[in-house]
Amino acid sequence: MIFTVIGARPQFVKAAAVSRQFLQKGIQEFILHTGQHYDYKMNDVFFSELGLPGADINLNAGSGTHGEQTASMLTGIEKVLIEKKKDVKYVLVYGDTNSTIAAALAAAKLNIPVIHVEAGLRSFNRTMPEEINRVMTDHLSSVLFCSSDTGKKQLAKEGIQNEVHVVGDIMLDAFIVFGKIAAEKFSLNDILPAAVTKSYSLLTIHRPSNTDDKKQLQNILSALGKLSDTFVWPVHPRNKQVAESLQIPNNVKLFPPFSYFEMMVLLNNCNKVITDSGGLQKEAYWAKKPCITIREETEWVETLTEKRNILTGNDTKKIITAFNTNVNSTPWSDLYGDGTAADKIAGIIQKKL
Ligand code: UD1
Repeated sequence: MIFTVIGARPQFVKAAAVSRQFLQKGIQEFILHTGQHYDYKMNDVFFSELGLPGADINLNAGSGTHGEQTASMLTGIEKVLIEKKKDVKYVLVYGDTNSTIAAALAAAKLNIPVIHVEAGLRSFNRTMPEEINRVMTDHLSSVLFCSSDTGKKQLAKEGIQNEVHVVGDIMLDAFIVFGKIAAEKFSLNDILPAAVTKSYSLLTIHRPSNTDDKKQLQNILSALGKLSDTFVWPVHPRNKQVAESLQIPNNVKLFPPFSYFEMMVLLNNCNKVITDSGGLQKEAYWAKKPCITIREETEWVETLTEKRNILTGNDTKKIITAFNTNVNSTPWSDLYGDGTAADKIAGIIQKKL
């Protein structure tokens, strides 16, 4: 049995793509949800839309400081793993969240091999909690799946060479499969008010580096106020309170979080993307939308080619210049595989069972 641990929004998308393949190949899966994300729009709606099998157990370990959250997950996961140990062949984890590191650590200490999907990714910025989580998880893992050769090379530099597989990115699988379904189910008018649908760009900001300092977030928003487009901003629950206390320019429209389907429709119809998210940088590329990333560095370095993704940090002048930069229309190359990563991952795992 594969023991999968998920907990945060991007992991639901990734696991949905792989779980479909497990079902098709008859691979038995047990899903533990740490409860890291729990609001309806951050959690439940993803399970229903993506056909992800319901979690077998939910630890309800959301909120708290990093230490509290991770410790509570670690204790909870270990307990379930001890109960199920004789049936568990591998623990499967995705990405770089606190749920990922908690599961990898619990499993490794019980000598259960860990499979890490999205391995070898680095921002080289240790102030990001995700960077710490991903470095630790890679070093605790026995089977590592990378989205591109960059990840494989990085792992080799760190001495990890066995059982490293470059399979492409599973978010591309989800983007292709679920993007089509989303377009059939929703039109833009179902999601946005009529006044906004004509021309808009998509904005997401949730990283502590951009949102913890209220003045800095205000500066970013004020800069967007100087641009000639409307910005659709789905606000992460952690930022709701601070967002509501700021002076929001008229062209920045706040929304509750969108579901994955809604997000796909919004992405495919927008002008540009401004974000500090990891996943959205890739999705913008696949949707052929110019992306402005309000961070100093990116793990997804391949997206930077031909200014398809521009890093600005939180420098408001750079944000304005980047937004006004015309991105030429030469073909966008295929990045991160061909949308069959989940099939490859499930195939490799099947051979090991
Ligand atoms: C986490 C991941 C990040 C990922 C992001 C996607 C870590 C370290 N970070 O960040 O890599 O990009 O998810 O969204 O794991 N909250 C709610 N409702 C929810 C979820 C969270 O109100 O459904 C609030 C809680 O007060 C919580 C805070 O948001 O303490 C932060 O959530 P947390 O899960 O710790 O991290 P994210 O910022 O979501």
